[in-house]
Amino acid sequence: MPKTKQPIRTIEWTGRTLRLLDQTLLPGRTSYVSIRTEEELWDAIKRLVVRGAPAIGVAAAWGVYLGTRRRKPKSIGDLKRVACDVADYLATSRPTAVNLFWALEECRHAADSLPANATVGTGLRRLLETAEHIQRDDEKRCAAIARHGAPLLKGASGVLTHCNAGALATAGVGTAVGVILHAARTGDFTVYVDETRPLLQGARLTAWEMNAAGVDYRLIADSMAASAMQRGLVQAVVTGADRIAANGDSANKIGTMPLAICARHFGVPFYIAAPISTIDYSLRSGAEIPIEERSDDEITSFGGTATAPKGTRAFNPAFDVVPARLISAIVTEKGVIRAPFRKNLAGIRPRPKREER
Ligand code: MRU
Repeated sequence: MPKTKQPIRTIEWTGRTLRLLDQTLLPGRTSYVSIRTEEELWDAIKRLVVRGAPAIGVAAAWGVYLGTRRRKPKSIGDLKRVACDVADYLATSRPTAVNLFWALEECRHAADSLPANATVGTGLRRLLETAEHIQRDDEKRCAAIARHGAPLLKGASGVLTHCNAGALATAGVGTAVGVILHAARTGDFTVYVDETRPLLQGARLTAWEMNAAGVDYRLIADSMAASAMQRGLVQAVVTGADRIAANGDSANKIGTMPLAICARHFGVPFYIAAPISTIDYSLRSGAEIPIEERSDDEITSFGGTATAPKGTRAFNPAFDVVPARLISAIVTEKGVIRAPFRKNLAGIRPRPKREER
């Protein structure tokens, strides 16, 4: 039974600034940064101070409010233009997690739909409320995903996860980690945590969350996952996602696809847990998902120390795409979605905001 704990406050609006738990310093230091400008937020997203698809989206919504407020628009028309400019700028911070673009679109819509005779004060309040709503809403979505997904882990003695899809990656209990922690209330299993090369989100962040929750977990190097499955230690794999195409192909942290392949080989169910804001209905398949390439030094050095000869070039895609046919189910806040994914994901598609008007 997990021990009770203080909720992890990943993103907090203080009333004046946005307070982010600096995830680059965990688990060594629990330290917060105060964000006052859209430039500071852009940098925090880029450097993974705040990371994880839903958390990036929530933070970006606050960024639109902060950036618009700071630029002191003179009229409502001006406010609409400024909000769109700030949203466009924040959209350049990271390319793969669609929750970023989804949240920015919510903010653009909130600004755009203000009546022409609204005051600047009303406009700013609308942007503030939009950010608050996106944050609260993500918390609720996470709770629902945890409830829907937990029964899938019934009877398991081992569950494996990759990267960090927990409270640190969302505004709530997390997606994959939320499912695992909910199931751990009644289940008795060990969580195998992939360390997640090259930036160790599994070792630094998921292990930190598991430790705080008091669940039984073992940290493994990514290359040990196949062996754990071969030995029969794992009855389910659950990960989050950064972008899910309309056919169910799912992009997640690099190293997720090999897990899905191994899971299929060893007959272990592979689950994705993600809110509907992670589904990009505009993409027919995962081949269209933009994959972030990060800098060489994430591979050629570790903690500032070179681990490869000077001048070594690296290949460093931050995400890979799991083909839908390897996914047993996608757990969303609307329930557990199974194949055929194109049809069943279409069934939970929210009505696009622009068409409502
Ligand atoms: O590069 P990161 O750390 O932002 O990558 C995060 C992941 O891949 C997570 O698994 C994903 O965003 C799901 S978070 C609920």
